[in-house]
Amino acid sequence: MKSSLSFVWTAAFFLALFSQCVSGKDCVCELKNLVRPFPVEKLDSIRTAANQCVKSMNAAELLEVDVLMLGLQRRLEQLEKSVSVLEKEDDGDLYGAVSLRIIELELAEVLELMGKLQKTINSHKQLSESTATKVKNMTEGMQELEAFDLSHVVSKQRENQRIKRDLAECQHELQATPQPPAPRPRRCPQGQFVNVTGPRTYALTQYGTSYYYGAWGKDPKPAPGKEDMYWLVALTSSNAFANYVRHYSSLSTILVGVGPVDTVISSSNPTTNTIIGPNVVQYGNALYYSCYNSPSVCRFNISTRSISNTPLPQNSGFNNKFPFGYLDTTYIYTDLDFATDESGVWVVYTAPDNFGNVILSEVKEGSPPSLGRTWRTSLHKRTATNTFMVCGVLYATRFLDKQTEEIFYSFDTETREERYDLKIHIKKMQTNIQSLNYNPRDRMLYAYSDSYIVSYDAVFQ
Ligand SMILES: *[C@@H]1O[C@H](CO)[C@@H](O)[C@H](O)[C@H]1NC(C)=O
Ligand SMILES: *[C@@H]1O[C@H](CO)[C@@H](O)[C@H](O)[C@H]1NC(C)=O
Ligand SMILES: *[C@@H]1O[C@H](CO)[C@@H](O)[C@H](O)[C@H]1NC(C)=O
Repeated sequence: MKSSLSFVWTAAFFLALFSQCVSGKDCVCELKNLVRPFPVEKLDSIRTAANQCVKSMNAAELLEVDVLMLGLQRRLEQLEKSVSVLEKEDDGDLYGAVSLRIIELELAEVLELMGKLQKTINSHKQLSESTATKVKNMTEGMQELEAFDLSHVVSKQRENQRIKRDLAECQHELQATPQPPAPRPRRCPQGQFVNVTGPRTYALTQYGTSYYYGAWGKDPKPAPGKEDMYWLVALTSSNAFANYVRHYSSLSTILVGVGPVDTVISSSNPTTNTIIGPNVVQYGNALYYSCYNSPSVCRFNISTRSISNTPLPQNSGFNNKFPFGYLDTTYIYTDLDFATDESGVWVVYTAPDNFGNVILSEVKEGSPPSLGRTWRTSLHKRTATNTFMVCGVLYATRFLDKQTEEIFYSFDTETREERYDLKIHIKKMQTNIQSLNYNPRDRMLYAYSDSYIVSYDAVFQ
């Protein structure tokens, strides 16, 4: 019975036990699964078809079709992996629900890729008729597979759990806390940042699971002609250091992991692995990161490959003195956290004279960069897992559980108002978020989470 996905549906109400007594002595029990089992073979055959499709195409040059096809292939492999993971999990509850969510997301992405592929193929007349037919067939197959979640068994179960939790929280709040203060209206053109939805994209990087720590995103102030580019920095040495930034020409190429261009920071700047810690950002075609073995802001000019820097105030933390954390866990080499928003680049750090509480400084773009205005907050850095900036407001997250990171804190640089009562939840796909940053250009949040790159939509009101 566990040979297929059917275990997910083992919730008693989907299995019917028919018993029947024959001849007064022998009893026959018949176990019927009332839900169709997930057709793994079908997924298999679509994957095989996708593989053949890729092989049959001339991959001499990296046509968009190839990229999409490769993407499709990888997504299908990932989907298959997720399905088999789901099959192995017995508890059928929470982890099953998470896995199913992952599968839902993967299906959505596969379908999106299929859609793109079809559009592209329509414009590529040189493709054979048969390839187009195959793709069409695959699309139909995938749509059928998608229908499998129509019963929404697990998602309903998950919903119930969520409602129960909300109810408990609600009751707790009724007893415990007065109404949170009404949010002040802000001068932010798109309105106030109120929520996070998604993930919108979720993928392993080209490195697979080799590098657990890193950062990715899109330059909010791109160089001309580089508007569609995405950057990726993985800590390729000891989970702590890196010495190059990787660029991809588009979202699909970074998700698929093809055609990267690496820009290496020379080992004379000042050592082989000059980038330390995951909280890197790219802004104005330059990479901002924590300098090796020094409490300083480093800026790597991507076009000239030169480095300039500016020191943080004396005694500021570096080398794991004041990292982010939760409970007894710390996030290594997160003494400095860089952020981008509508107004530019920011750095979050702390020092003993602020008791390990977060200090926020503007990073001015001049040459060399310098620190601008500085604010001292009451947020103890160790109680946050990450920070980011939106419209001049600093936000901090904390670890709630394996599936949820909570934005709980904000500091408004304009009014100096601090709040600890935000309850904006971020749905995680992996346990830890190593870096989190907001891009004011596409108004999305980019996270690097245990080897995976994930993006979310910021919601404004
Ligand atoms: C369409 O896909 C199914 C499996 O999903 C396969 O059996 C069938 O042969 C395919 N048809 C064509 C024309 O490729
Ligand atoms: C925030 O977004 C989540 C996910 O879409 C949604 O479930 C929730 O209701 C939203 N919260 C608010 C306050 O809008
Ligand atoms: C990078 O160097 C170029 C050439 O000197 C310069 O025009 C550009 O402003 C520099 N970028 C940054 C962010 O300093």
